Amino acid sequence: MDNAHKPSVLKQELRNKVLVLGIDNPPVNALSADLRRELLGVIQEADTNDKIEAVLMVGCGRYFIAGADVREFGKPPLPPFLPDVCTRIEACNKLVVAAIHGAALGGGLEIALAAHYRLIAADAKVGFPEVELGLLPGAGGTQRAPRLIGAKASLDLMLSGRPLDARDAHELGLVDRIVYGEDMLAEGLAYLKELLAAHAPVRRSRDAGGLADHTKSRAAIEAARSETTKVSRGLFSPLKIIEAVQAALELPFNEGLSLERNLFLQCIDSPQRAGLIHAFFAQREVFKAPETRSTKARSINTVGVVGGGTMGAGIAVAMLDAGFPVTMIERDEESLARGRTHVEKVYDSLVAKGRITQEARADVLTRWTGSTSYHALAHADLVVEAVFEEMTVKQAVFAELDRACKPGAILATNTSYLDVSAIAASCSRAPDVLGLHFFSPANIMKLLEIVVPAGVAADVVATAFALAKKLQKVPVRAGVCDGFIGNRIFAVYRAAAEHIMEDGASPYQIDRAARHFGFPMGPFQVADLAGGDIGWAARKRRANTRDPKARYVQIADRICERGWFGQKTGRGFYRYPEGVRTGVQDPEIEAIIDAERLRAGIKPNSFTDQEIVRRLMAAMINEGANVVHQGIALRPLDVDITFLFGYGFPRYRGGPMKYADTVGLSSVLADIREFAQQDTLFWQPSPLLVKLTNNGADFASLNQSA
Ligand code: 3HC
Ligand code: NAI
Repeated sequence: MDNAHKPSVLKQELRNKVLVLGIDNPPVNALSADLRRELLGVIQEADTNDKIEAVLMVGCGRYFIAGADVREFGKPPLPPFLPDVCTRIEACNKLVVAAIHGAALGGGLEIALAAHYRLIAADAKVGFPEVELGLLPGAGGTQRAPRLIGAKASLDLMLSGRPLDARDAHELGLVDRIVYGEDMLAEGLAYLKELLAAHAPVRRSRDAGGLADHTKSRAAIEAARSETTKVSRGLFSPLKIIEAVQAALELPFNEGLSLERNLFLQCIDSPQRAGLIHAFFAQREVFKAPETRSTKARSINTVGVVGGGTMGAGIAVAMLDAGFPVTMIERDEESLARGRTHVEKVYDSLVAKGRITQEARADVLTRWTGSTSYHALAHADLVVEAVFEEMTVKQAVFAELDRACKPGAILATNTSYLDVSAIAASCSRAPDVLGLHFFSPANIMKLLEIVVPAGVAADVVATAFALAKKLQKVPVRAGVCDGFIGNRIFAVYRAAAEHIMEDGASPYQIDRAARHFGFPMGPFQVADLAGGDIGWAARKRRANTRDPKARYVQIADRICERGWFGQKTGRGFYRYPEGVRTGVQDPEIEAIIDAERLRAGIKPNSFTDQEIVRRLMAAMINEGANVVHQGIALRPLDVDITFLFGYGFPRYRGGPMKYADTVGLSSVLADIREFAQQDTLFWQPSPLLVKLTNNGADFASLNQSA
């Protein structure tokens, strides 16, 4: 669009010699190139215009300014640059005041810090979330904030990414005044009137003395550096933040600013920035399933949960935490009491940690009721089934629900693998049935796979997405297949890990390589945590349908035959002696593996950690491509979000499909073809991967809104 015809993103109005700038760039007033250009122009004009005595910046809409326009990162930078806009605001000889409501984040806070005075609405927040995007505050934030509030508080703010509420921001000295009125324009004008009446000077953050105590500031910087080196697990930007704050202490302001700019550009160029920003947008895109646009959600006020085991109890807690009354159904009184105890334990531990009071615990539990009769679900708007993973048991439960529930109630199954369409077909109201696949622990894990069978009504799917928002979960729409998106892909990743193990690497090396890549746990640690018996039961169930030509590694079966099911039995791929939190390597496991290699006639090879990762990732990406190709996932980004929120995939890599784009699809395909020379059946390249590679395209090209 021609600039001349673009609507302005900065509203201007002169009120008694105060130039009011209304920042109006919906949805969140991000600092786009247009906004930067208009701000710069207006401030320059204000400086020389005699009719203007002061400038007041207020935000239109819900926020003051949410920060830089994240969509611009990774594209050629467009002038004017934000640090220059901030420098110009600070240099202005007329008083500039920022009136913050909603939130001033990242570059938004930097604009406010460049102003000469700041007031904040009592319910507003300020913060530097850049670290979560692989960045650092790059418009003077690392230089101005420490001068205002000291090195320690600034580092806490920038390294955590967590926002401060108005009171804390005021106590620290980041803002000058808290206001309680609704009308920020009126509040801002009143404040400016006071400032002008008192002949308040132009006061620049660059001149503030928060770093005067060098010894204290240096100690804070060193403490942050040693802590960050320990905990940042390969993240690039945290150490750069510390470097920039150190520059604030050691260099003149302008030199500090240029160093900050330099470090910011390094972060912008880092693949971590690309991965984290992909995750930021993908996390929002997953909510936009087609059904959420075409229909309205049903209203959910009361919830039933069938089964009070690990998952049923966790789901009940998730629902209670979101404010729903919950009715739990169990097979008998004893199991029901156990279910209640599981729920109570969660709140007891919160009380013990001081996170909630006894009264709050008691209050939440008044919303829990239990029964062994399905009649208790007569008024439920939604029922989530979480009984044993057996088709016949689930179908029997759904037949009961069919009889007991009111018309229009949504019936959901938490099955991990079973055919949701077959479960739906077992009752007379298939349009009301879908899968809600929570992850363990269900009250903590953010991922919710919304499994959509062919016959379900669109408004039921839309309701599931609305529910996810209420539960503060991240929903991913999945089609029906064995394991849906997550468990299906994970099974192939795990199989690749087993092949590598049988071919010569120890489970300990494989886990270490996966951790080094950024997973919190390797595949065998995950197996020990989930319980070896669960996978074993699934393998036995599939034994008759497995392709006899497919490679089958029996090592896990040998371990399970000994009753070693992982953490819960004190032994699995690792040993878990009493008092030791993580597993220790077990020579007996290595002996079992040796014996299995011998039985299978395999001469062990050695693998580098890099080769291990190459295989694990190729397996995950290839199956991810299959899942997209078959329409089980709407887009590659849905696979990414599934792995970021359900399986600990390192966020800074953006998810498996984003990672594939980063290394290049042709390189992934070449890997798969190389591995296929050993095992053509396992390493069949996904048709989608082949097609994209042939077209020179990437997964990102398929990520537009569904
Ligand atoms: N740039 C571009 N778009 C943004 C954005 C930003 N900084 N922040 C949010 N958006 C978009 C979202 O993608 C979403 O778009 P969509 O409707 O098309 O999906 C829309 O704005 C609304 O966002 P949310 O759904 O997240 O709305 P909420 O009201 O729930 O949350 C928020 C609002 C708290 C502002 C949240 O969006 C947020 O945390 N945004 C990111 C803030 C941030 O990280 N700022 C720092 C940016 S980096 C920076 O400033 C560098 C500087 O130092 C140089
Ligand atoms: P669990 O064995 O801990 O709990 C199952 C509960 O269901 C038991 O309390 C049992 O008494 C109850 N139950 C069995 N039949 C019942 C019936 N007819 N009526 C009422 N209650 C009945 O099992 P878990 O781990 O909670 O799994 C439940 C479901 O959740 C399974 O489908 C499983 O695949 C799925 N799931 C499990 C995950 C996990 O990590 N454990 C993760 C995600 C899904």
